[in-house]
Amino acid sequence: MKTFTIGGVEETVIERTDVPPSELKKVLSKETVAVIGYGTQGRGQALNLRDNGVRTIVAVRPGKSFELAKSDGWVPGKTLFSDIAEAVRKATVVEYLLSDAGQKANWATIRANLQEGAALYFSHGFSIVFRDQTGVVPPANVDVILVAPKGSGTTVRRLFLEGRGINASFAVEQDYTGRARERAVALGIAIGAGYLFETSFRNEVLSDLTGERGVLMGAIYGLMRAQYQILRKMGHTPSEAFNETVEEATQSLYPLIGENGMDWMYANCSTTAQRGALDWCKKFEEAAIPVFDELYEEVRSGRETARVLEANSRPDYHQQLQKELAEVRGDEIWQIGAIVRNLRPERLPSGKKAAAKATAKSSRNGKASHRKVVKAKLKPKKKAKARR
Ligand SMILES: NC(=O)c1ccc[n+]([C@@H]2O[C@H](COP(=O)([O-])OP(=O)(O)OC[C@H]3O[C@@H](n4cnc5c(N)ncnc54)[C@H](OP(=O)(O)O)[C@@H]3O)[C@@H](O)[C@H]2O)c1
Repeated sequence: MKTFTIGGVEETVIERTDVPPSELKKVLSKETVAVIGYGTQGRGQALNLRDNGVRTIVAVRPGKSFELAKSDGWVPGKTLFSDIAEAVRKATVVEYLLSDAGQKANWATIRANLQEGAALYFSHGFSIVFRDQTGVVPPANVDVILVAPKGSGTTVRRLFLEGRGINASFAVEQDYTGRARERAVALGIAIGAGYLFETSFRNEVLSDLTGERGVLMGAIYGLMRAQYQILRKMGHTPSEAFNETVEEATQSLYPLIGENGMDWMYANCSTTAQRGALDWCKKFEEAAIPVFDELYEEVRSGRETARVLEANSRPDYHQQLQKELAEVRGDEIWQIGAIVRNLRPERLPSGKKAAAKATAKSSRNGKASHRKVVKAKLKPKKKAKARR
């Protein structure tokens, strides 16, 4: 457990070491967790729960997810159910991990089969906070809790397998049993969280929807597109424009921010890059603040969730999405992206990979000429230092 005060706000964070296996066992050994939905979150969380020894079953409609669950070793009729109602009746914890639109569509089934004292668990505040749009109003005789991993379900699983852990928030909306908080915390660690920070359903959904539309995904994509277009308009080659917009960000600079923070990244780049970035960031900040104000207001008002629910509930949503994604893939920036990504030494076919490794090794030993490396279009392995 760590407590700190920043900006006048005191926060306490629960770490994995606060919930050792004996505590997990104490809180969860009598629970049967039904994971409803086997998308990215359902899969990641269900597999981690199973590996942590928690009694877990999965329920999902017949189709793509169901087949994936089978191939992951869930056994139809025993630990895998296509009848959501049956799984909910067996469960003391119901992890409601359908897509948010799917949660609206299936709520009547969940509501009708929830057992008294069960914990109804979400990974997003969406359904509960915007209950006027989703109709998800839990009965008074269950706990309502949240554990929201801050990342894709793929990462939830990947980090768990690497012995690491994703950061996640947790919240209690309703405590019927008096155990809601300990259940949320134990489940958070059991699904693979490395540490848990406390929030409310409302703050989780407002910050999450803003973040993914903003810096995490929407804003960053918009900025990348804008810069790439300008560089191309001014005559730069596609690979140069891509490298200066995406590849250097994802491969060098952003990982450095992740490792040691923004100041460290600035301290470890050239004074030219540092001076320019520190001065220009103010202009971008000023330009972005009105857009973020507008975004937050759209989210808070419920207009954003209404728009998303309507779009995601259309029967042809996934078909249309495939068309949109094909357009993204076809954009020049991502076409050159595919080529550039495959130039990374670790992605070369095995024969070339060995040659690249040898070149990089002898280059590190000072034996390879710079020309040879450039000719082979290979970059030596990046050092933990910004290259700008
Ligand atoms: N993805 C993330 O990064 C992330 C991160 C944190 C929290 N969350 C939250 O976690 C929850 C699950 O998200 P997710 O990303 O795992 O969702 P997802 O990938 O979209 O998975 C949806 C699952 O729900 C099923 N489903 C969708 N609509 C359905 C319907 N109408 N009837 C029955 N089943 C339906 C899908 O089955 P089919 O395959 O048959 O369509 C699939 O198994 C959401 O509340 C989300 O906001 C997600």
